[in-house]
Amino acid sequence: MIVCVCKSVSDRKIRTAIADGVDSFDELQFELGVALCCGKCEETVRDVMAQSGVCASSCGVAHHDHHQAVPLTFYERKAA
Ligand code: FES
Repeated sequence: MIVCVCKSVSDRKIRTAIADGVDSFDELQFELGVALCCGKCEETVRDVMAQSGVCASSCGVAHHDHHQAVPLTFYERKAA
């Protein structure tokens, strides 16, 4: 699936970069050019990073086991 339309970067390419040692959002931007044009892909790029076990912030710290997928949690907003 294409994650970054502006730079034609797929989730597979992002996962490959992470497997090759890229461990921060800034580094992904530098290596693949994601989220440098319109920026609409940033949230999805960070989600792919989290699913790949890399911290989705720009701290560059791996918080999770790289061999386990991190489940995403969605919260439902309730009316007051
Ligand atoms: S979709 Fe990634 S910068 Fe536009």
